[in-house]
Amino acid sequence: MIPGHVAIIMDGNGRWAEKKSLPRACGHKQGVRNMKEIVNAASGLGIKILTLYAFSTENWKRPQNEIEGLFSLIRQFLKEELGELNGSEIKLRILGDLSKFPKDITADIESACEITSQNTKFELNIALNYGARQELIRAFEAMSKQGIKEPTEETVSSFLYTSGQPDPDLLIRTSGELRISNFLLWQIAYSEIYVTDKLWPDFTKEDLKIAVAAFQKRKRRFGGL
Ligand code: FPP
Repeated sequence: MIPGHVAIIMDGNGRWAEKKSLPRACGHKQGVRNMKEIVNAASGLGIKILTLYAFSTENWKRPQNEIEGLFSLIRQFLKEELGELNGSEIKLRILGDLSKFPKDITADIESACEITSQNTKFELNIALNYGARQELIRAFEAMSKQGIKEPTEETVSSFLYTSGQPDPDLLIRTSGELRISNFLLWQIAYSEIYVTDKLWPDFTKEDLKIAVAAFQKRKRRFGGL
């Protein structure tokens, strides 16, 4: 079975650049190129939802010039890729708190989400200024405001950024680190985890197929026998 929802922690852009004696910004640039490759590959494999961790709530601790570089890449991505995303019937959703981003980026993101909102072939979630704990606090606050005192698991899920989407079947992390880094804590309760040593810019369509094949060999029991 092809996993319906795959989430990826795209790690290793900096190391990829350092290994080649290039500035870190080149690693991020290559990382964005690879995002496009993997979105197309995932759609081609029959995956329906892809969630990519692009910027965490902790990434603000990085040097200002690196953050500015990431902003430029986001601007460029939205300008250059919106047409293709829409043409490929991809619905874009952003997971995270956009209020901290420069106004022009927030406006472009909102417009891109609106333009692609009716697309049904594939869903691309990009996590930007995302942190799973922050997402849960936001959900609890919203539930409390609505007077919900006895939430079920379904209620909590419906208040998350991923509302309405099934949980990830497969979580992939590139560049070898064995941690979750505050990503989708609620949603990955039963996800299969696959870690590869490949750095994100080197993670190819073939590597995605290998991860899916590994997933297909797992026996998912969801706590049962
Ligand atoms: C991890 O590599 C990567 C990131 C923190 C950023 C990923 C962001 C993008 C690919 C661009 C986002 C762009 C768009 C269009 C949404 P790292 O820098 O942590 O690598 P390192 O661990 O080797 O230093």
